Amino acid sequence: MGAWWRGASVYQIYPRSYCDSNGDGIGDLPGIISKLDYIASLGVDAIWLSPIHPSPNRDYGYDVADYFGIAPELGTMDDFARLLDEAHQRGLKVILDEVVSHTSDQHPWFIESRESRHSPKADWYEWQDPKADGSVPNNWLAAFGGPAWSYWPQRRQYYFHKFLREQPKLNLHNPAVEEAVLGVFDFWLKKGVDGFRLDVAHSFLHDKMLRDNPPIAVDERTHWHWSHASNLQDHVFDNGFPADGQVGVEHRRILDAIRAVCERFEDRFVFAEFAEAPRLLGHFVGDRYGVHSGYTFGFLYNRDLTPRFVAQEIALYNSFADLWPCQTFSNHDVPRTVSRYGAGGRDDALAKQLLLLLLCLKGTVLLYQGEELGLADAPVGREHIRDPFGALYYPVFKGRDPCRTPMPWHSRRAHAGFTSGTPWLPVGPLHGAQAVNEQEGDKDSVLLFAREAVRFRRESLALRLGGIDVIEAGDQMLAIERAHGDETLLCVFNLSGEPASLELGERAGWMEVGPGSGRAEQAVGMLHLGPRAAFLARKP
Ligand code: BGC
Repeated sequence: MGAWWRGASVYQIYPRSYCDSNGDGIGDLPGIISKLDYIASLGVDAIWLSPIHPSPNRDYGYDVADYFGIAPELGTMDDFARLLDEAHQRGLKVILDEVVSHTSDQHPWFIESRESRHSPKADWYEWQDPKADGSVPNNWLAAFGGPAWSYWPQRRQYYFHKFLREQPKLNLHNPAVEEAVLGVFDFWLKKGVDGFRLDVAHSFLHDKMLRDNPPIAVDERTHWHWSHASNLQDHVFDNGFPADGQVGVEHRRILDAIRAVCERFEDRFVFAEFAEAPRLLGHFVGDRYGVHSGYTFGFLYNRDLTPRFVAQEIALYNSFADLWPCQTFSNHDVPRTVSRYGAGGRDDALAKQLLLLLLCLKGTVLLYQGEELGLADAPVGREHIRDPFGALYYPVFKGRDPCRTPMPWHSRRAHAGFTSGTPWLPVGPLHGAQAVNEQEGDKDSVLLFAREAVRFRRESLALRLGGIDVIEAGDQMLAIERAHGDETLLCVFNLSGEPASLELGERAGWMEVGPGSGRAEQAVGMLHLGPRAAFLARKP
C-alpha cells in the first residue's frame, strides 16, 4: 500500500462550532471526542482540526499566541491527548491546522520584536521605515481591508500583515524564525499527530525588494475582484510570486524543510493552502519536494459549475506530472456549496450530486463539517457577526460566519443540540430540520448518501488512486473516467437544471454501480439523466 493519505477523505472540523460539552456556547475538544463515533461512521480516514492553540481570537484561532498550547476555551492538553488516542482507536488520523505565516500581535515573539529595533527578535517580523512623507512602504493591501502595513510608534516603523493588523507576518527569510517554526511541527509530531494543513502557504515569503504589486487589468476584473480592494492588485510580490524566481526557490526550501521534519516520523501527511495561485502547485507540491499535497481556490470560489469549468480544473491538475492534489468544495472561509450553486435554501439533490462529484475527483478529498448534511449557509444578522471581515463590509459582504454556524445534532433540543448555553454564533434557523437525528432515520437523506458515497470511494482503487480523464459530453453533462489497474469507472453528472442525454458509445452496457443520485436511465446506448442527477458505471 502507498501512503494512507493518497485518495483519503479528510473531514474538516471547525472546533468552535462542532459540539459544546460544557455549556459555554463554544465547541470544544471533549465535544469532538463525544462525536468521534459519528465521524468514524462517515467512513472518512482523517479529521483536520481548524486551529486549536491559544489565541485572542481576532481571527478565531488563525492568530496564534502560543504554538505549544491548547486554547483554554477548547480544552486542555489532556483533552487533546485523549482526542488523539480515541481517534486513533477508531482508525481516524488527526491533522492540525498550523498558521506559521503570521502570529497574533499578542504572541511573545511579536511583543518582543516591536519593543525596539535592537531587541533580539527585532527581525522576526517584516519591519520597514515609513516613506519620507510618513506613508506606508509600498502598495500592498491586506486581505481583510486597508493597507498591509501598520505603524508601531515605539519602533517608528511599519510592520507587514497580510490579514488583520493583529496578525503580523513572520519574517521567514530569517533562519532563526524558520528554526522556531520547524520546532512547532516537531513538537506536535512527537505528541503523535498525523499531519498538518499549512495555512496560507502561498505567502510564507515575500519579495525582499518589497516591489509594488501590479494592478489586475480592468478588463480582467471579475465580480469577485471588484468585491474588495485587495483583489484589484495581483499579489505577485506579497504572495503567489513566480515560483521560479529566487524567492520561489527559498520558499520551496522552507516547504521541503517542513516536509523533512514530518518525514522523520512514519506515515505523516502535510498539505497546504495555495489560495489563488495554481501556478505554485507544480513547484511546491511533488513526489519528492515541497509538500505532499495542496489546493487552490478554484472550486472554492467558483459559482457557476459548468462541465467546462470542471474540465479546466482537471486539466490544470493533470498538467503537473508530479502533483497529488487535494480536492475541496467547501471550508470555513467560503459560502457552503448548496448556497453557492443553488437558489439559496435547502437543496438535497444538489448537495448529493456535489458530494459525489467531489468524491469522484482525483486527489485527497477535504470535506467540511455539515457538508455531509447538505447544509446551506445560515443567515447571521449584524448583531451576531463575529468575523471581522464581515463586520467591516456588512451588509454588502457578510463575512464568513454564515458557513461557520454550529453543527445541528438534534432537532428537538435547544440550539439543535450544539450547546446547553448560548451559542457563540446562532444555529441556522432551518438547520434543525437537517439535524443528524432527522437524517439518520431517513433513507433518502444526504447523510446516508454521504456515508455510502465515502465508502464507495474508499473501496474503489480507481477513485482513490486512479488517473482522471474528461470525456466530451456537451454543455450540460460532465463525464469523467477514472482508472486504476483492472478497474475503470465512468462517472457522469448532469450539472444542469434540465434533463440531459449522453450517447455512451463504447461504454454502453457498463454496469451501474455505487451511489448514483437522481433519475438515471440507460437505453439503446444512451444515458438519460434527470436534472442534477449522477450516474456511475464500471467497465466489465
Ligand atoms: C484561513 C482563514 C484565515 C486566514 C488568515 C486562511 O486562509 O483559512 O480562515 O482567516 O488564512 O490566517
